Amino acid sequence: MTPNELFDLSDRVAIITGGAGGIGTVYARALCEAGASVVLADLNLDAAEAAAAALTADGHAASGTAVDVRSTASAEAMAAHAAAVFGGVDILVNNAAIMTDLPPYGLSDIPDDQWDRVMNVNFRGPLLCTQAAIPHMQARGGGRVVNGLSSGGFMPGGIYGVSKYALHGLTLNLAAELGGRNITVNAIAPGLVDNDSGYASLPKDSPFRDAIAAQIPGKPSGPPSDLVGVLLLLCSAAGEWITGQSILVDGGWNLRF
Ligand SMILES: NC(=O)c1ccc[n+]([C@@H]2O[C@H](COP(=O)([O-])OP(=O)(O)OC[C@H]3O[C@@H](n4cnc5c(N)ncnc54)[C@H](O)[C@@H]3O)[C@@H](O)[C@H]2O)c1
Repeated sequence: MTPNELFDLSDRVAIITGGAGGIGTVYARALCEAGASVVLADLNLDAAEAAAAALTADGHAASGTAVDVRSTASAEAMAAHAAAVFGGVDILVNNAAIMTDLPPYGLSDIPDDQWDRVMNVNFRGPLLCTQAAIPHMQARGGGRVVNGLSSGGFMPGGIYGVSKYALHGLTLNLAAELGGRNITVNAIAPGLVDNDSGYASLPKDSPFRDAIAAQIPGKPSGPPSDLVGVLLLLCSAAGEWITGQSILVDGGWNLRF
């Protein structure tokens, strides 16, 4: 295959949860530009439809739909929407998460309802969406699942870090379980992302940001477009032999031995 063929996603159908968000919209455009038809699924239907309309206006195949990743029925409706509009599901990007409106508690005192609020979106949501996508992927002979982790999942980070580390575990276990069905399951773990959510969780002018940046050997932060190369790798023929991997894109913030 030529390099272009390796990353070509023509005839592929992708779903991105949290598709109306800062990273989701960038992922959606990248997958469209690689040739895929893309469903942008989000709790915020108006924003998902607006983001899809912007892609359609540029000649891409995109559709917005509502999803609440906490609900099996909603996840199944999302997958059915992709099948009805574009003919199937090949790629699922589990990108929706709570990262800015986090409970103001440590793990030692977090109330049950606050634990559930975060874990149901950040951890259970990717499982429910994957379960909903599997039959559609099998009908097409296989598929790709890409989970949205965080570099923060590999260091102490309270409930958010726990939810992302749990998703790392889900990535490994689903990869083992779904390999025989020709479905790869991987994850992207971004570091400090230069977007609204990134700045909401760690303000641009915070002294902590400078302190963290001083510890990062490579580029300390980057825009969502810096994640696109790994996304395309994991969704395309180029990544056919890769599964069960959580790939850190964080300038070496988290050097794991
Ligand atoms: N921005 C960063 O600095 C950063 C860093 C590392 C990892 N991440 C991860 O990247 C992903 C995207 O982050 P972002 O910066 O685009 O955040 P964002 O807040 O802009 O987007 C999140 C999207 O998820 C949607 N969402 C929330 N709950 C939902 C639910 N129950 N069902 C469906 N959709 C729901 C929101 O409506 C929103 O559009 C998240 O998984 C986040 O944890 C972000």
